[in-house]
Amino acid sequence: MNSHTFASSGPLRGTISIPGDKSISHRALMFAGLAVGCSTITGLLEGEDVLATAAAMRAFGAQITRSTDGIWTVHGAGVGSLLAPRQALDMGNSGTSTRLLMGLVASHAITATFVGDASLSGRPMKRVIDPLSQMGASIEASAGGTLPLMLRGANPAVPITYRLPVASAQVKSAVLLAGLNTPGITRVIEPVPTRDHTERMLTGFGAKLEVGEENGERIIAVHGEADLKPMDVTVPGDPSSAAFFMVAATIVPGSDLTIRNVGLNPTRAGLLQVLRQMGADITEVDPREVGGEPVADLRVRHAALTGVDIDPAIAPSMIDEFPVLFVAAALAKGTTRATGLEELRVKESDRLAAMAAALTAAGARVDEHEDGLTIHGSGGEPLRGTGNARVQSLLDHRICMSMAVAGLVSQAGVEVDDIGPINTSFPTFQRLLDEATQ
Ligand code: S3P
Repeated sequence: MNSHTFASSGPLRGTISIPGDKSISHRALMFAGLAVGCSTITGLLEGEDVLATAAAMRAFGAQITRSTDGIWTVHGAGVGSLLAPRQALDMGNSGTSTRLLMGLVASHAITATFVGDASLSGRPMKRVIDPLSQMGASIEASAGGTLPLMLRGANPAVPITYRLPVASAQVKSAVLLAGLNTPGITRVIEPVPTRDHTERMLTGFGAKLEVGEENGERIIAVHGEADLKPMDVTVPGDPSSAAFFMVAATIVPGSDLTIRNVGLNPTRAGLLQVLRQMGADITEVDPREVGGEPVADLRVRHAALTGVDIDPAIAPSMIDEFPVLFVAAALAKGTTRATGLEELRVKESDRLAAMAAALTAAGARVDEHEDGLTIHGSGGEPLRGTGNARVQSLLDHRICMSMAVAGLVSQAGVEVDDIGPINTSFPTFQRLLDEATQ
């Protein structure tokens, strides 16, 4: 365990560049690994989660190399031609790698075993086991439908139409990826829209994919036995990583920070909307497109925030940003109520319980409910914890970084028991924080 104390800081100033988007990086490696021919990926996030995906794609037969200038080259194995991995696939902490790759294996005539760390081994896999079983895969999971699990793919698999019972881009993507090597048309019905990187990028790689709408629900159809062609992907910066700096610069007085190259796909941009509703001062500079995704630089200046009731409908577009939004709410004037967030209990940690405990230890006033938190803000006053509270990060990178931001506005500092998990998604976090606050 590698503990660290984050202490109050001066303003965040200057310009920082955040690393590549994690969701897009996983997909770039997977789709390039399925294409026939040579793709390149620029701006790939080199965090542990994405490296787990790269290792798995190598085990499936893709050739993946990184050149000294940081560009990744992938010679794909081809849809339908994945090899059976010789060893168990170690997914580490990464739910995205696990669920999407389970989809890939499900329609190939191979068997793969998935293992992960203590956090991942507690997370529900039934949500992907159900549709993939309907497609013909057979899956032996640990009790409770968790990792370690063994998945035997079906070939040919059976195309299905699957209505998502939970708003999850991972489940949607698992079914669509299984559909790539399934004869006929595989459909996913999405009652609530979730991040659409799979749809955008698969189209770029030449898959035949149709997105329509019926009775207010999105329907995504993928035509099977696809031939993917290689492409050069540029990965935009991760809005979920930018989030920590958006909140930090907003709540630390005197800050004026520019965050370059932030992905602003509408299915990911909920935090920006909510922070603005609370009174944040964030301007989008030079809006443009990178890798088929909308991107801008964000100029964030300190602002006094006011508590709000967060519309549960916005949750999917900021699902990973709630931990750091709770920190912003702890500094706002008045009360913030967030509801409809049951999904936060099955992320890398139970993020409602983890953030309620961590913020309370740091001196914030928080009530925990079944499906959300109510936070009574300090009105801009520093958090006054006892000073000897140790925050449990529970193998959850976003708890670590959110509480690092809380530390910047605390009187006595915030000690996080283990900051190792930050490397899963944002290995340059500490360096950028030092740069911005020096
Ligand atoms: C992701 C989808 C979300 C998100 C995760 C990444 C993806 O998970 O929380 O960090 O890349 O598809 P769910 O699909 O479980 O909501």
